Amino acid sequence: MTFDPPDWSAFAAQAHAMLDDILGHLAALPSRPAWQPVPSEVRQALNEPLPRQPQGLAAAHADFQRLILPYTNGNIHPRFWAWVQGAGDPHAMLATMLAAGLNPMLAGFHQSPALVEAQVLRWLAQLMGFPDSSSGLLCSSGTAANLIGLAVARHAKAGYDLREEGLSRRPPFVVYCSTETHGWARKAVEFLGIGHRHLRRIPADDHFRLQPHLLRKAILQDRAEGHHPVAVIATAGTVNTGAIDPLPAIAGLCAEERLWFHVDGAFGALARWSPALAPLVEGLERADSLAFDLHKWGSLPFSCACLLTRHPELHRSAFALTPPYMTPTQRGILAGGVPFADLGIDLTRPFTALQAWLCFKTHGLAAYAASIEQNVRQVRRFEALLRRTPGFEILAPSPLNVLCFRFAPPSLSDLDALNHELLLRLQESGRAVVSSTLIHGRFALRLAHVNHRSTDSDFDELLQALQDIAKDLP
Ligand SMILES: Cc1ncc(COP(=O)(O)O)c(C=O)c1O
Repeated sequence: MTFDPPDWSAFAAQAHAMLDDILGHLAALPSRPAWQPVPSEVRQALNEPLPRQPQGLAAAHADFQRLILPYTNGNIHPRFWAWVQGAGDPHAMLATMLAAGLNPMLAGFHQSPALVEAQVLRWLAQLMGFPDSSSGLLCSSGTAANLIGLAVARHAKAGYDLREEGLSRRPPFVVYCSTETHGWARKAVEFLGIGHRHLRRIPADDHFRLQPHLLRKAILQDRAEGHHPVAVIATAGTVNTGAIDPLPAIAGLCAEERLWFHVDGAFGALARWSPALAPLVEGLERADSLAFDLHKWGSLPFSCACLLTRHPELHRSAFALTPPYMTPTQRGILAGGVPFADLGIDLTRPFTALQAWLCFKTHGLAAYAASIEQNVRQVRRFEALLRRTPGFEILAPSPLNVLCFRFAPPSLSDLDALNHELLLRLQESGRAVVSSTLIHGRFALRLAHVNHRSTDSDFDELLQALQDIAKDLP
């Protein structure tokens, strides 16, 4: 028994047809709905019994075309601007296929794929203004990259052998972030045994940015109470509004207080790739650790995130392990050791680096800057359109690519319910997709733009759709 095809040329014909189909789908995206609900017959069909007998690749692909392809959440569509979900890149799709074809195991080893990952990490460190000596790791998500960063921080600042002793010692560690920090931080402190009680959420200012003077006060108070401050999490591009914390001030405070400075730059850090936008995120290059996602503003397929630290030794000593079956050798396949397994939790890792390597080489970095600048310009343009449109109001400052707004006709009072209905009707219309959040307790429509496929006329269509739907609201 083998999983290889009995007839490679018949397999190749089927494979080419599958490639043609998905490329055809991508080329026709603008004429398709941005999203449509999964019909009940499709739900039923996707609940079929275990396929004990072979159905064949052609039949499985036909099911894919019918049951799966039309019913995704829409993030590759030019009029999708919800939840900071990247739009993907057909070039990276090819890289994914090549990587799966080679199927190398990326713990490390003496192999070119490991050199590719190391090179991509050097490129990313350079793009983020980190020193050449930095260490880094490609991770499965922004959440995972941030978690690894915080794990290194905890290890670095514990003051004792945390790996050996665990968290049995007191006083409790404390981590600081703002009220706008993404939910990953709570998961991370829970997961790392620090505990949610010890995540201090410093109130944000009117522009949803962490306030350094309140941060300093909280650190001093914790020290006075015998707690053990460990790390500050700053965000470059908050999930709700795209706010950028005052990174230079927080960097300075962390240096004074000898705390680990971690930056969550999930999407916002990539603004640094644009010379025009880089000043907005100045200071992230001073982070002890920085997490960001290439599957958001970098448009790589899910999933590819990155963690960089400027402390390679601390990073390594937080995770490295050398079991007898992985002891590096002088020659042979293990001559390279398993450097990537030594920097995180995964031993077996995919060749995700190929996506970045192939796309960076194909497009060149200037294209990424241009796409990011285009997105920010389009959000500014849409904001200006909304400000000129009677009945709509902007709910939060928008320094980057996230815009929070609502429909607020003067005659109506329950604006939360109204906008909730507007959101759902917009999504169900298939004309465009945005998501929602709460701004100062008010329900807001939230547009988060990392989509390289959107044109100005896509935003005109969004405004038209919002106006058409708003007209018919009860
Ligand atoms: C600011 C911020 N941090 C972290 C995350 C989590 O990233 P991921 O969804 O890749 O885990 C997100 C997701 O949108 C985010 O916007």
